[in-house]
Amino acid sequence: MLTSLGFKFIDSIFMSIISDPFEQQKLIRSGQILASCHHHIANMIKPGLSCEQIESFAMSFTAKYGAKLATIGYREYKYGTCVSINEEVVHGLPLATKIIPETAVVSIDIMVDFEGFITDAARTYIVGEVDLPVVKLVEGTREAMWQAIKVVKPNIRIGDLGYTMQQIAKKYHLGNVTALGGHGVGLNIHDEPFVLSVGRKGRGAKIFENMVFTIEPMFCLGSGEVVFDNTEEDGWTVRTKDNSWSAHEEHTVLVTAKGCRVITEIDTTDLLE
Ligand code: MF3
Ligand code: CO
Repeated sequence: MLTSLGFKFIDSIFMSIISDPFEQQKLIRSGQILASCHHHIANMIKPGLSCEQIESFAMSFTAKYGAKLATIGYREYKYGTCVSINEEVVHGLPLATKIIPETAVVSIDIMVDFEGFITDAARTYIVGEVDLPVVKLVEGTREAMWQAIKVVKPNIRIGDLGYTMQQIAKKYHLGNVTALGGHGVGLNIHDEPFVLSVGRKGRGAKIFENMVFTIEPMFCLGSGEVVFDNTEEDGWTVRTKDNSWSAHEEHTVLVTAKGCRVITEIDTTDLLE
């Protein structure tokens, strides 16, 4: 089940490898636009905000910098953002009828295309007063992403990243969603490799300098099993099977000689207005 779903979402058999310094600069610009967009959305999130308001902000913000939201029209997805609330894990639709409640865990996932260079990042926010397990859920998911990012360098394997993320899920007693995962990005929306949040040390594809991919753990308070919406009105939203709340944190990384550069994280001094 894991790999079949992985293949379902991967569009090519190629890795995104960006070695040209000029092209890397464009990728970095794409990430800077995306990181700034997330930063502004972070300040907007509050009860009563509609998901459509997030979508329209992201649309006009990226347009201002000559970029596009990459997922519009991708596999018939109509939107440029995904907003997933509570038991929605990923690919939640940014609808005007979907309103942020008084207390919630809200994940925002956005892909930016700047002159053909695609970056992908997600952030999860806590809204209102929530119980401690929800705080641990969001912190644990973020920690798993950052621990895996720290492991990235040439010649390690994808399984090393999955192993690292799974250890954090275990430490926090969180459910790990393994039906979906990270992916190559940069030149296409979903390239190889498929980056699961579970794995065995030393197994899987080898990582090389200049590879571009995402690291995106999805954890939840329940079992980690998910269901894919297959209604005509939606057809996208992935929810936890047990309706437990979930979190999703994602960055795009570019592998360097000794580690990686986090393309979708920028210094606040570089934020775009
Ligand atoms: N960032 C999301 C992903 O990597 C994009 C979801 S929109 C979709 O899956 F159209 F691709 F579903
Ligand atoms: Co992604």
